[in-house]
Amino acid sequence: MVDTPSSQDSVSLIDSGFAASQAGYAAIMCGVHLALGEFLPASGLHGISSDSAASNVNSYVYENGRRYHAYRAGKYILPNDEPEIRRLELHHHLFLMLLGGALHRAPLNDPQIVLDVGTGAGEWAIDMAEQYPDAKVIGNDLSRIQPPWIPANCVFEVDDAESEWVYPSNHFDFVHMRSMSGSFSDWPLLLSRIYEHLKPGGFVEFQDHGACLFVEGPDPAHLDALNPVSPPSTPFSDWWTLMLRISEARGRPLVVARDMEDLMRDAGFVDITVEIKAWPLTPWPEIKELNEIGTWGRQGMMESLNSFSTGLLTRELKWSEKEVRDKILAAAKDLILAERRFWVQTFFIYGKKPDDVGSGSSDNGSGGDDGDR
Ligand SMILES: C[S@@+](CC[C@H](N)C(=O)[O-])C[C@H]1O[C@@H](n2cnc3c(N)ncnc32)[C@H](O)[C@@H]1O
Repeated sequence: MVDTPSSQDSVSLIDSGFAASQAGYAAIMCGVHLALGEFLPASGLHGISSDSAASNVNSYVYENGRRYHAYRAGKYILPNDEPEIRRLELHHHLFLMLLGGALHRAPLNDPQIVLDVGTGAGEWAIDMAEQYPDAKVIGNDLSRIQPPWIPANCVFEVDDAESEWVYPSNHFDFVHMRSMSGSFSDWPLLLSRIYEHLKPGGFVEFQDHGACLFVEGPDPAHLDALNPVSPPSTPFSDWWTLMLRISEARGRPLVVARDMEDLMRDAGFVDITVEIKAWPLTPWPEIKELNEIGTWGRQGMMESLNSFSTGLLTRELKWSEKEVRDKILAAAKDLILAERRFWVQTFFIYGKKPDDVGSGSSDNGSGGDDGDR
């Protein structure tokens, strides 16, 4: 089921086994319009370096039975406790399954230094360090939730990727971001920083779900549909829509993937390649590998219901614990009992910093929102 990106600067569809199916499709919330250029930096961003981050990295905020990061508290909406770490581990394996075991799509050639922005539980960085023993792999995150026993060439840092970067310019061979939609308020600024800190010829890669939730399906012709219409309402799709709306309202939208190709191009990247694969959220596909992703994808989504709802609904909408519980329960029943053919698009997008830009500091500087450096 794994394919090779076939063209540059274009969407490449995959043979994901959907050809055998014939049903129609419907999707929700794909028409959300985001004027990315209008994103404002989050208020109160402070310049920080890895060194100065030390004070509260081992403290936590506890709310509604979940544990959250205390360093830059409130910035990221999902918990960082054991259930969340298990969810991230599961998603790591699902991403690997979708890519046939590959960690990246960018055509890397003997990378020496790699950065994983928002590394989470660190599995990608650890696997990357094992796959490239001659490379140094750095994973940064707001939370220190990575395991203590790691390869010698892997380093984890507590840092805020929205602060000014302390890494040298023209430094990295590869910068990777996975499942980071909903984390950042200013993607153009983040990409300009990545550009600045990549070596000429270095690659950036973004891997994430799209915002479209397909309720019926499948049809490979719809795999690259970014703005389908006729959203059907189900308890789970209503929950999904609500999460997208709240994330957008809080200025850290989940709707990012479909704009990433343009964002990379605007930041100066070239040879951009986009690949979209289907990720079933229930075990409906006949193809064995996809069915397995659907089985575990549903398990991951069951965890996501609580991870996303608890923070977003209590903090942003001030819902009571019971209201949150009822919303989660309805969505969970829909996922488990309704035998629906839910699926989402998953984007694998990479681009290259041109080979011929000077190795001096570029105009796409990483300055910006930090007033306290
Ligand atoms: C959904 S998790 C994805 C983790 C990992 N990339 C993966 O694919 O398993 C998002 C991660 O980004 C981190 N994060 C969010 N905002 C961040 C920021 N401003 N700087 C650094 N990390 C951030 C969160 O703490 C969380 O661990």
